[in-house]
Amino acid sequence: MTGRFVTVEGVEGAGKTTCLALLQERLEAAGRHVVRTREPGGTLLGEEIRQLLLGHRAEGMSGDAELLLVFAARAEHLARVIRPALAAGHWVLCDRFTDATYAYQGGGRGLDVERIALLEHLVQGNLRPDLTIVLDVPVDVGLARAGGRSTPDRFESEQATFHAAVRAAYLRIAAREPQRVRVVDASRPLDTVQATLAGLIDGFLAVTR
Ligand SMILES: Nc1ncnc2c1ncn2[C@@H]1O[C@H](COP(=O)(O)OP(=O)(O)OP(=O)(O)O)[C@@H](O)[C@H]1O
Ligand SMILES: [Mg+2]
Repeated sequence: MTGRFVTVEGVEGAGKTTCLALLQERLEAAGRHVVRTREPGGTLLGEEIRQLLLGHRAEGMSGDAELLLVFAARAEHLARVIRPALAAGHWVLCDRFTDATYAYQGGGRGLDVERIALLEHLVQGNLRPDLTIVLDVPVDVGLARAGGRSTPDRFESEQATFHAAVRAAYLRIAAREPQRVRVVDASRPLDTVQATLAGLIDGFLAVTR
């Protein structure tokens, strides 16, 4: 059995982390070895970069610096975690990946998509997720869910228009790549969302043995 690379995406508070736990349980119950990780982060260096990206110490960093930090963390993550796990036949479940870069730095910050694509190719070669689940919620619903937690990070602190652009970018990616990217309406109650996800991952398992 070969491993697969599955990513979960969505705006702040969409339910990514909650849903990844369910996906992991489901895959493990089906006998798969799962490596669960996140971006930015997933390695020592990546988590340090995450602090720089999400914290407020580097408020107002340039768009290019942000983009390069995201891909620096990703390069380390691929080299140390993702590629080795896939090579060992494990399933990798990742909380955000490069679609988030297109959504946040492309959609949200308005950076040139061509520049993102260039770095994507440089850092990943041909590696792309096998399956991406976009948990889609209206921005205010997501922010309200996320808002129950600690102080807002550098992205959570952005304006509603930024988050709306992020959501729209995710939906554009899904429309362009319907084979890889599945949109799940995550505004519904958690058990309904999870039932949809269970069906989706079971269907994916059925075609990947
Ligand atoms: N469908 C749902 N209905 C209601 N509450 C939900 C739903 N999904 C998740 N939640 C709750 O919303 C909160 C945010 O969920 P979670 O942390 O999984 O989101 P996230 O997408 O990982 O957020 P972030 O972008 O901040 O990492 C949690 O308290 C979670 O229990
Ligand atoms: Mg999360």
